[in-house]
Amino acid sequence: MRKKITVVGAGNVGATLAQRLAERGDADVVLVDIVEGLPQGKALDLLEAGPVLGYDSRVVGTNGYEETGGSDICVITSGVPRKPGMTRDDLVLTNMKIVRGVTEELVRRSPQAILIVVSNPLDAMAQLAFSVSRFPRERVIGMAGVLDTARFRTFIAQELQVAVGDVQAYVLGGHGDTMVPLARMCTVAGIPITKLLPPDRVDAIVERTRDGGAEIVNLLKTGSAYYAPSAAVAQMIDAILLDRKQILPCAVHLQGEYGINGLFVGVPVKLGARGAEEVVQLELTPDEQAAVRRSAESVKELLAVMAL
Ligand code: LAC
Repeated sequence: MRKKITVVGAGNVGATLAQRLAERGDADVVLVDIVEGLPQGKALDLLEAGPVLGYDSRVVGTNGYEETGGSDICVITSGVPRKPGMTRDDLVLTNMKIVRGVTEELVRRSPQAILIVVSNPLDAMAQLAFSVSRFPRERVIGMAGVLDTARFRTFIAQELQVAVGDVQAYVLGGHGDTMVPLARMCTVAGIPITKLLPPDRVDAIVERTRDGGAEIVNLLKTGSAYYAPSAAVAQMIDAILLDRKQILPCAVHLQGEYGINGLFVGVPVKLGARGAEEVVQLELTPDEQAAVRRSAESVKELLAVMAL
């Protein structure tokens, strides 16, 4: 039987993700949103693109959760996005209520699903979904690192005039101002960028990566990024559906790894059919380790605001 993926939130991230998934053709898609007609309209439109593009994924839109039952993967994109000048953390109290309710609805009907959380502030919302679902940690994964790393790779490729595919990088830590782009481990065809670029250029790229989300928010003025975020989720889903064992940076519940216990923080994770199958431990310098811990502290502060 074909796999079933539920996408909650038919806004820009959710709808673009539904499009990417439908076009891949290896899963049926259920698009959920509270706005009447919106998920139904977008789903029907996507379905009608199938004959032209040659896919036959079933795409269904709904305001309820009945159709989501038995999903293999559920993606939570719901919540309000940032406006210019806001940080992701400013969204916490509003999005907390939304993500809590959505998670409850999903897990009741898809108790074996893998949850991928996209709503911001990312690490805190993933932690909330983990605590509400009571799923094992392998099955609750936050999307942020793939996006942040994609931004980092884009800027490096632009700077060095090389193909993005030749740039290897990891961004660790929380999805916020304290994220940790690991410049030391970033390579172009195996050569560390620290040998290819002067330190001030590396620093500037690291800074632009950290501000990558805000840069888009400031340009769009209404709403935040969605092409790269939806592409990042699709890559994670491919890794899970195809049991790729691909190592991608994701937010997961750390249980002692990187010296962090009981918090969602972005680290390299092996993604396969069981979800986040393994946390990959990189050997960090004391400075990098301290930066990841600082980032974890800021996730902890948000959890305190949420009383979690
Ligand atoms: C970003 C938002 C979606 O980084 O968190 O673009």
